[in-house]
Amino acid sequence: RINFTPSEHAAFITNLNQPNYFQHPSGFKIAHFLRTAINTHSLVIISNLNSLSPSAHVNLTSIFGEPGAHPQRGKPPALPCLTGTRCLVEVATNDPASPYLSTQIKADHWHSDVTFSTQPPSYTSLLAKQIPGEGRGDTMWASTSAAFAELSPALQRTVSTLFAVHRDRSGLGQEVTHPVVVEIEQQQKGMKEKPLRRRALFVNQQFTSHFAGWTIEESAPLLNYLYQKVLAPEHVYRHRWSVGDFVVWDNRQTLHYGIFDSQKMHRTMHRTTAGYNCPIPSSPLSAL
Ligand code: SIN
Repeated sequence: RINFTPSEHAAFITNLNQPNYFQHPSGFKIAHFLRTAINTHSLVIISNLNSLSPSAHVNLTSIFGEPGAHPQRGKPPALPCLTGTRCLVEVATNDPASPYLSTQIKADHWHSDVTFSTQPPSYTSLLAKQIPGEGRGDTMWASTSAAFAELSPALQRTVSTLFAVHRDRSGLGQEVTHPVVVEIEQQQKGMKEKPLRRRALFVNQQFTSHFAGWTIEESAPLLNYLYQKVLAPEHVYRHRWSVGDFVVWDNRQTLHYGIFDSQKMHRTMHRTTAGYNCPIPSSPLSAL
């Protein structure tokens, strides 16, 4: 029986065996359960998936959305996904067997994945294959929907009309514009109930440079204020990894930060990204 523990920051799951999620009846049920969990909590942590193979990982990811390639600095991903696309990436530090060098996979900045692309992935997952121990190599997530909910109604209305420019400083991709606030549908338990809509701030320190139509200088104070709200300690969850932890998160409602304190140690993660249909509206959101 699946063990489900919801908390303020994440949903924790243990005892999940690995059925075929696309086969009736138990697979369907579990897929629906996991979709509801990510939809409600935006960060889902499943323990003890040590034996999840790359193909089973891609299979599990695909219940959240179509897996796709994640632009990766340096060498191409080590592991191809089932369909032959490059969608399962091995992220490693100091593992001589890995094709990656530690300097190429540092994620020690607050960001949401690939927002410099026109259709960023809604979901990312990491599976811990090898962890450094000694309490190192943690990852943190911060809730951008909790931060939005705390803004005054007037500021919520103002930021909901703005767009922001995103770009990758390393030169991967072009400059793109996304709304500063995105809306995510929240399914209700009862099928007949209308889905709720939750808004979240969709800006991040790594890739957002300024508000569209504003200068960088004009944008900085408001952007910094929004980051300060998102990164308030009460919105941040820090995960200490165990081998076999599988974490999936909603990139539209969270920022994440990989703490880089395991330089000399082995840390290996398998990563997938999925759902490249991030609902980015092309016009401002309707009035609140
Ligand atoms: C990432 O930013 O996608 C990876 C974070 C981590 O390795 O902890």
